Amino acid sequence: MSGDDDQQLRVSKIQNGTVIDHITGGQALNVLAILGIDGTSGESVSVAMNMPSDRLGKKDIVKVEGRELSQNEVDVLSLIAPAASINIVRDYDVVEKHRVERPSVVVGVLECPNHNCITTEDEPVQSRFAVVDDGVRCEYCDTIIRDELPAHILAD
Ligand code: CTP
Ligand code: ZN
Repeated sequence: MSGDDDQQLRVSKIQNGTVIDHITGGQALNVLAILGIDGTSGESVSVAMNMPSDRLGKKDIVKVEGRELSQNEVDVLSLIAPAASINIVRDYDVVEKHRVERPSVVVGVLECPNHNCITTEDEPVQSRFAVVDDGVRCEYCDTIIRDELPAHILAD
């Protein structure tokens, strides 16, 4: 195969599922973490990183076969990939496309770093963070996560 063909290869289309496009370059693995995808549950997943993009310079793309995303997942995703678009694919066609929006709260996807917080005890209390200018703030104990949001993603 010639070099030209190599350069034109792209990740193939999916039949049914979700394409998350226009992800901030370098964030694809964090997007997978938000979705709880580590490869062990058998879903077909394609990842392209640092693809050239007119709008973003470089972008990542994640394609998940057979899966649609919850609003909570999309909300957290928007914090690390504010320009992302979510494309729902059915029978090879994009049947829905929308940009992510910055939410005012994110529920259930992040873990509070405060080990004494009620959301980290053995209580059936879902984490809730308010989205603030410099990060997200736990609504129970006011702990703020500023950087390293991906390090606080709850494992499924
Ligand atoms: N896609 C896919 N499988 C399909 C259909 C689309 O993987 N069966 C992918 C495309 O490769 C693209 C994204 O889903 O990365 C959105 O598809 P489409 O809306 O057709 O592309 P564009 O018009 O280029 O999208 P946009 O305008 O959002 O950049
Ligand atoms: Zn807390």
